[in-house]
Amino acid sequence: MTALQDAIAPASLAVDGPLLQAQDAQGGPLLQAQDAKGGPLLQARVRRKAYGDKPVLQNVQLDIAPGEVVSLVGASGCGKSTLLRIVAGLDTQYEGHVRLAGEPQQGITRDIGFIFQEPRLFPWLTVAENVAFDLGRAGRSHPQVRELLAEVGLAGFEDRLPKQLSGGQAQRVAIARGLFTRPRLLLLDEPFSAVDAFTRARLQQLLAEVARRHGLALLLVTHDVDEALLLSDRVVVLEARAGAELQVIDNPLPRPRRREDESLGALRVRVLDALRHAHAF
Ligand SMILES: Nc1ncnc2c1ncn2[C@@H]1O[C@H](COP(=O)(O)OP(=O)(O)OP(=O)(O)O)[C@@H](O)[C@H]1O
Ligand SMILES: [Mg+2]
Repeated sequence: MTALQDAIAPASLAVDGPLLQAQDAQGGPLLQAQDAKGGPLLQARVRRKAYGDKPVLQNVQLDIAPGEVVSLVGASGCGKSTLLRIVAGLDTQYEGHVRLAGEPQQGITRDIGFIFQEPRLFPWLTVAENVAFDLGRAGRSHPQVRELLAEVGLAGFEDRLPKQLSGGQAQRVAIARGLFTRPRLLLLDEPFSAVDAFTRARLQQLLAEVARRHGLALLLVTHDVDEALLLSDRVVVLEARAGAELQVIDNPLPRPRRREDESLGALRVRVLDALRHAHAF
């Protein structure tokens, strides 16, 4: 095994927490995460996803344990958003299956929240109405709206309109909305790429706190390796070529992590090596 292969070799370890195992079995890459007490929260098996005759995802197998934070990184166009949309139930045109707590996932569910790159708030609805969108306009006075807005640092913003918010504030409303249905899994597709570096750092911290407090599992798509390592327990590198083996970098550092933590540096090198390898196809 070369140093590079060693650096990106999928971990296989048995510890008290999640069990992580990734191997290139005959059926393709295998990536498993199980809670010691039971099965995975998410089980995604995408045998094939194509647009026309162009395959985008092939033999992708991803499990996420309850409360686990997983980042998905990879070259532009390698299928990260496609995988997230499949997990969310927004795309059902693929071969394979998605299970949530063992149950087949059949379309959009309140157990899975989705936060996009841009906040996607409804401009004609107030902040409170956006957060409680799931319940319609009547939801604006739901007590949870006030609680969630306070939690994301927007107490008193209930009656504002989206045009009266900064980009970072709008994304915090989107986070509150993502939490409103009390999901068990939150999917985030490059959620902080449109805000400045300082706001981004604060939103990352907010997300980490919210995930911990709510026992949420996260699947986060990001191009920011530092963000991936700061937030997640595993970094999954999706190859540019459909059907290639997933690479997995385990992050054993306990949460919450600090940006200055020197151990993150060694992990960063491993992720960057894996990305370089993924781009080489
Ligand atoms: N609706 C669509 N119709 C046809 N091709 C599509 C469609 N959506 C995505 N694709 C193609 O599928 C591939 C994967 O797209 P996807 O959006 O999942 O990539 P990504 O990894 O999220 O990229 P990025 O990092 O740029 O967001 C790309 O080649 C893209 O052009
Ligand atoms: Mg994308």
